[in-house]
Amino acid sequence: MVAIIIKRVGEMGEKKPMPVHVAVIMDGNGRWAEMKGVPKLLGHNQGTIAMENIVRKADDMGIRYLTVYAFSTENWKRSSEEVGGIFRLLVKFVKTELRELKERNVKVNILGDWHDRIPEDAVASIRETLESTQKNTGLVFNIALNYGSRAEIVRGVNKLLSERDRGEQITEEDISASLFTGDENGNIPDPDLIIRTSGEERLSNFLLWQAAYSEFAFTDTLWPDFMPEEFESIIEEYRTRERRYGGRL
Ligand code: IPE
Ligand code: IPE
Ligand code: MG
Repeated sequence: MVAIIIKRVGEMGEKKPMPVHVAVIMDGNGRWAEMKGVPKLLGHNQGTIAMENIVRKADDMGIRYLTVYAFSTENWKRSSEEVGGIFRLLVKFVKTELRELKERNVKVNILGDWHDRIPEDAVASIRETLESTQKNTGLVFNIALNYGSRAEIVRGVNKLLSERDRGEQITEEDISASLFTGDENGNIPDPDLIIRTSGEERLSNFLLWQAAYSEFAFTDTLWPDFMPEEFESIIEEYRTRERRYGGRL
């Protein structure tokens, strides 16, 4: 009898562990607005609400690290009106959400060069958020902002070159530690799972080094329509996957 039950559980496929680090490429705000026939900024606004709900959900599910791609180094190519609007939304997000983030013991990190080109009021909001959540020990919420992975790697390698003696060899661990996800933000583990919404299936310069063995999940849902239930079902599907890391099973 016991043997039969064990066999049945085995057939259903045992659940693998929860992902420690989930990263999300929040894409599709523009198409959502277009479909609704509303200004693009309303799409970004609705996208911010979707993000707030996913942060809550990730925290409730006990995920340790959540990273969101909010603004890439390539997104500066967009109109100044759109870019300005995105940063105004960031300021609004901090105003309305910082208190809850603190109550939830969430630690916020920014991945990306947040001192460069970003409007002053947004920089002030970021500084306040980082300072007031720095010591928190709950969910680590990383916002990739003015982030580009190639620029991140170049910056990291240059940092290493300036610290080392000529001719000294650098290791994979050195490069990992030199990235935004490295020493300066408490050595965030590589993402177990990267989710991209809106039907696009590419990385768009996101976490290129860190994604070496990440699992991927793509959904056609546009980011503003992405609900906590779908996030949960993607995590459940991830937990059925066999990760091999090049080893033979
Ligand atoms: C993602 O939505 C948000 C940012 C890149 C800032 P998009 O604005 O890229 O939406 P689509 O891809 O045009 O639909
Ligand atoms: C990636 O989305 C960046 C963010 C989600 C912030 P994009 O919309 O900028 O990417 P591409 O241009 O479709 O590759
Ligand atoms: Mg897009």
